[in-house]
Amino acid sequence: MKTYCAVFGAVSLAVASHAFMVGSPLTGVSKAPASSSTVRMAVALPPLPFEDTALEPLISKRTLDIHHGKHHAKYVTVTNEMIKGTDLENASLEEIVKAAKGKNQGLFNNAAQVWNHNFYWNCIKPNGGGKPTGKVAALIDRDLGGFEAFRKQFAADSNGNFGSGWTWLAMDGDKLKIVKTSNADLPLTQGMTPLLVIDVWEHAYYLDVQNVRAQYVDNFLDKLVNWDFVNANLA
Ligand SMILES: *[C@@H]1O[C@H](CO)[C@@H](O)[C@H](O)[C@H]1NC(C)=O
Ligand SMILES: [Fe+2]
Repeated sequence: MKTYCAVFGAVSLAVASHAFMVGSPLTGVSKAPASSSTVRMAVALPPLPFEDTALEPLISKRTLDIHHGKHHAKYVTVTNEMIKGTDLENASLEEIVKAAKGKNQGLFNNAAQVWNHNFYWNCIKPNGGGKPTGKVAALIDRDLGGFEAFRKQFAADSNGNFGSGWTWLAMDGDKLKIVKTSNADLPLTQGMTPLLVIDVWEHAYYLDVQNVRAQYVDNFLDKLVNWDFVNANLA
């Protein structure tokens, strides 16, 4: 374990109380090397893919400290507590999410929230947003009526999601769709491939723009979306 933690020190700081694996950007987990029998699979908290001040003033360090360091971290801790000693103790995060869906609501809520947040952090970056290029731009034109129509619908779904939830761009078969989910729900369990997500839980924006979710959504679309990540998800 010592050697392993030295190699993946950045991750070990994030999840000190558990054995864990280094994360892939999408799921935060990966398979254990066959030889390392001392390493127990567990769900990790991946570090943010940018500095904690990098999104200021749109998303403050204070928001990131609490959103990533408290909310996201808590979902990781609770997921690990809930899988400990069960059939899922060595499963990947994706396997846990799919196994818990419709069967164990508490585990699903926590594991899906880990997956959603792992994904969300990769969907934003400093100096992002605006019109995409590449494959996703072509799909938006083909399936969603062009960028302006996409932007209008994505913002409307994000602002109109009553309570807590998420708005996604996802591939449903070979069709690009905007998908709105509530609480921890995600398109992954509906057989779709997620490409982009915005977190519209209040904890994502309340410290920065208070109740004005529309401002946060505009900032996300105009200044934060990481379209390179979206295009990579299509590759
Ligand atoms: C998980 O891995 C550990 C260590 O290899 C093993 O002892 C345990 O039986 C595994 N649990 C399950 C449910 O497969
Ligand atoms: Fe969140």
